[in-house]
Parts: sequence; structure tokens; C-alpha cells
Amino acid sequence: MTTTAGTPHAHTRRSFLTRVGAVGGASALYGSMEALGLFASPADAATATPDFAPPRAADLPDSARARGTNVVILGAGSAGLAAAYELGKAGYDCTVLEARDRPGGRAKTIRRGDKLTDTDGVTQTCRFDDGLYFNAGPARIPNHHVTLDYCRELGVPIEALVNANAESLYYHENTSTTNYGELAGTAVTHRQAKADVYGYISELLAQAADQGALDTVLSADDAERLVALANSLGGLTGGRYAGNGRRGYVDAPGAGHDAGVVGTPPSMSAILQSQFGTRFAFEFGWDQAMMMWQPVGGMDRISAALAAAVGGKRRITYNAPVTQIDNRPDGVRVSYRHNGRTRTIDADYCVNTIPPMVLTNIPNNFAQATKDALAVPTGANTGKIGLQYGRRWWEEDDKIFGGITATNMDISGIWYPSSGFLSRKGVVVGYYSGSYSGLTVPDRAARAVEQGVKIHGAKYRDELETSFSIAWPKEPYSLGGWVNWPGGRGAAYDLLLRPDGRTYFAGDHLSYLTAWQAGAFESARLTVTALHERVAATAA
Ligand code: FAD
Ligand code: ALA
Repeated sequence: MTTTAGTPHAHTRRSFLTRVGAVGGASALYGSMEALGLFASPADAATATPDFAPPRAADLPDSARARGTNVVILGAGSAGLAAAYELGKAGYDCTVLEARDRPGGRAKTIRRGDKLTDTDGVTQTCRFDDGLYFNAGPARIPNHHVTLDYCRELGVPIEALVNANAESLYYHENTSTTNYGELAGTAVTHRQAKADVYGYISELLAQAADQGALDTVLSADDAERLVALANSLGGLTGGRYAGNGRRGYVDAPGAGHDAGVVGTPPSMSAILQSQFGTRFAFEFGWDQAMMMWQPVGGMDRISAALAAAVGGKRRITYNAPVTQIDNRPDGVRVSYRHNGRTRTIDADYCVNTIPPMVLTNIPNNFAQATKDALAVPTGANTGKIGLQYGRRWWEEDDKIFGGITATNMDISGIWYPSSGFLSRKGVVVGYYSGSYSGLTVPDRAARAVEQGVKIHGAKYRDELETSFSIAWPKEPYSLGGWVNWPGGRGAAYDLLLRPDGRTYFAGDHLSYLTAWQAGAFESARLTVTALHERVAATAA
């Protein structure tokens, strides 16, 4: 194609492809494609993780060796707990030190009475009604994650997390750079947007095939098959998209002669201008496609079950922030604060799951290369707010049962709860975004509500009872929601996959499942395997 600057066709094929790729959709709002599991192609890692076999005492020449091997585990998040749990299967003598007052780390569920004090010294206390909660960190689990295997193994009940719902909404408002056309500022159901986008795309495909435009790439038979596909996919009538029941009804069908009334779809141009279609890819993601799951009662039920399986407070010391880590020739010495005193523990090995942004501030005698590597990853800015409403208006008025409304406003989305259906009250997630971390707690709520009102109207403000927000970069023992590896995983990442002396590192930051509990679990398993093999080799 020849192109002329300034004409409507002034795009080279390459620039079109670039523009399409640059429409970040949901991923742009949340942070990274990887955190959302939206990569369309395999990750750049060439090596597959071998299947995990839990360590067994019988793997060691003298099984007493495992029982006599002390491992101090720093952090009782997903990685630390999984490491203690798996090592415990072989009889290792594990002690877990955790700075917070409970297990789970970032797998944090907020309930009535919970308090958080951020790095600015601001304390929030949760005032939700008893029985209501909000998952401030992880909220969804795909089918294929090892996380579900732990739920099965530990007897943690799960229920469906509605990640995609035909009845939830898309809402785009105009910005200084983008005009979304006549649908700007209008909340449109996923159902309607999908019917219209697929309808018009199918119409174009059918026309192209019919007019012979695809003859160079398709045989006559395949062109015919494509037309059949387009008719089915788009719900076309006579090769045209004119709207149908898939998009919903302006007057729903009923009894007798009431066949219902389907609204007339906006024009093809209006649908393209709305850019709703650029959001559909979210639910195609390897880690985001339905079915998705959540533990019944809150995400922290998994860590609670792991902590119990590990031995509870017999093995885990809470309120014990680590203050110093020293590799020694024959072990590791760790200092921590507990009950107002500094204490020391000596162990044969250490599994260190403290997030790197926190760890770099803890004095240690690691090799300079390790210190340098720990300083490479940066904390991702993300946060959430839970909004408690006195009435489940999203179910009663809008017929939305779970799912997520997506918007280009900086709340990024509204999550409707996937539990407590048909009950009286509920907690909606009012933003999932880093844009709120710099705001005061009341300002976060006010801004999120102001945006929600644009989508749901005044009830979004008027029926709000209480809220609780979290800014992950301001969580003292996290300093970020997850990590970014500037420039991608490189030498620093490779280095941290190996132990420094007798200290091993683990956490979701050392996996290709960043921002997923599964990354922490898989990383813990890798570390446990390496440590166990070393002990076995030493004992041989
Ligand atoms: P952490 O959970 O951070 O554990 C580290 C532990 O070390 C913490 O308990 C911490 O308190 C402790 N610690 C820190 N400093 C010290 C110290 N000085 N002394 C002692 N202990 C210390 N995952 C999913 O599976 N699904 C999701 O939908 C999902 N969504 C997410 C959304 C958000 C907003 C966030 C923030 C995360 C989300 N994740 C999700 C990712 C998931 O939370 C993490 O991958 C996982 O919890 C990481 O576990 P970890 O053990 O590696 O780290
Ligand atoms: N993995 C995180 C999520 O799905 C980022 O929300």
C-alpha cells in the first residue's frame, strides 16, 4: 500500500500493527501484562521447571539428618509457608520469623477490626460489618495454578470467582487525547459490547470474503466456511449485523405475545470509536479466563491453613521483624525484634522470602553481587479500596452478580463480590490501581466514589456505609504490590535463583508468575528442592 501523510489511509501496515499492539486495554491500567497473565506468547524462559516431588526423609542416607537440620525461614507469606510446609514433610526443623501479626503476607484479607499502619504512619481500622471482607491483595486463582493444589491438599474450600460477566459494564470517558465517540460516558454491558463488536467485525469478514477480497489467501471452500463462521459469530441476518437478542433487550421478552424488543445497535463507526472491543482480550488471558476461583471466606484462608499445617505458633513467630542476616561458614545467624528485645537464631540454612525492596534495607553480610542484585527489582505501585454498601444494589437494580466493570477512569474497574449473593450487604472493590497511593485515605474514597457515580449513579455515593483502602508501596513489609524487573529478568534475577552461602531466596519475584501466589509457591518448591538436594549431597 502506498501512503500519503495526512490522508485517512496514511498508515503503513506496520504502523497499524503497532497501534493495535499499543492499545493496552486492561493491562495498561493494572500495571504489567505479566502480572495479569495476559502474555499471548510463551514467556522467554527456555527452561521448564521439573515436576515437584516433596522432599522425603528417605531421600537422605541417614534420615535423622533431616530432623537434625535447622532451617530458618524469613517471612510467613505464601513462599515462606510453602517452604516450611514442604520441608516439614521430610522432617526438617523449621522456624519461621514473620514481621506481621499473622500469616499470609500480601495474601491479606481485610475484616472488621483489622488495622493497617502505612509508612506515613497513617492507621486505618476496618469498620465492615462482621462477615464481610475484602481481599486487599490476591483475589483470583486460575484453574491451572498450584495454588488450587494447595487448597485441595489442605482442605480449603473454594468457590467461583466471577472474573467475566455479561452483565458487568464497560465505561469509557473522553480524555484530552482520545474521543470515544457517541458512546463516551455511557455504561454499556459486556453482553451488548460483545454482540456489537463481533457483529460488525463478522459483517466485514463476510463482505470481504463475499467480494473476493480474501481470494489470494483463502480457497473458495474456505471463503465459504469463513462466511458461515461470520454468520454464526456475529449473529448476522442476510450478511448484515442489525442487532439481536445477544446484546440484551430494551424491553425483555415475557409471556403471551411479548417477544421483547431489541435495541438498534450504534453504527459500526461508533462501535469502533468506543474501543470497547480492545478490552475483550483480558478474559482470553491464560491466567484470567473463566473459570476462576477464590477460597470461601477470604484469600487468607490458604495461608491460615498452611500456617496450621506447619505447626502454628510452635513453628512461626509473629511480630518478629528480622533486623540482621549473617551467613556464617557453617550456617546462618538471624537477628530479629520480638517483645521489645533483639533475639538471635542460628540455623543450618535460611530461606529468605522477604520482598527485595524490604530486604535491601536489612543489614546483612551477603556478597556484594547479591546486595547489588537485590537492589535491582522495584516495587510496583498498586492498591485497592473496599466499599461496603448497605444494599446489594448491583444485584437488585442492575442484575450484576459478580464480575468486573472495566473503565478508562483511574479506578480501572469495579469488582462486584462473588460471594454472599442475594444477601443484604456487600463489599465492592472500588479501584484496583496505583493512582490512589499518593492520596489521603478519605480522598481515595471520595475520588473512587466520584468515578463510580458516573457509572452507577447517585446510589454509589448515597448507599456507601464504610470503606477501607490499601496502598501497597506504603505497606511497611511489602513496599510494593509485586516487583518489576527493569529491563526484564537478567543477571540479577539469575543470581538470586542461587543461594548466597547458606541463604536461599524465594518469592513470586523469582518466578515467571510475578503477582501470583502460584509464583511464590513454585519458587518455594524450587528452593526446597535445591536445599534438600544439597543436604542429601552433604549427608552422602
Ligand atoms: P509476601 O506475601 O510479600 O511474603 C513476604 C513475607 O515477608 C510477608 O509476610 C512479610 O510480612 C514478611 N516480611 C517482610 N519483611 C520482614 C522482616 N523484616 N522480617 C520478617 N518478615 C518480614 N496472586 C494471586 O494468586 N491472585 C491474584 O488475584 C493476585 N492479585 C494480587 C493483587 C494485588 C493488589 C497484590 C498486591 C498481589 C496480588 N497477587 C495475586 C500476588 C500475591 O499476593 C503474591 O504473589 C504472593 O502473596 C507473594 O507471596 P510471597 O511469599 O512471595 O511474598
Ligand atoms: N495477578 C494479579 C491479578 O490478577 C495482578 O489481579
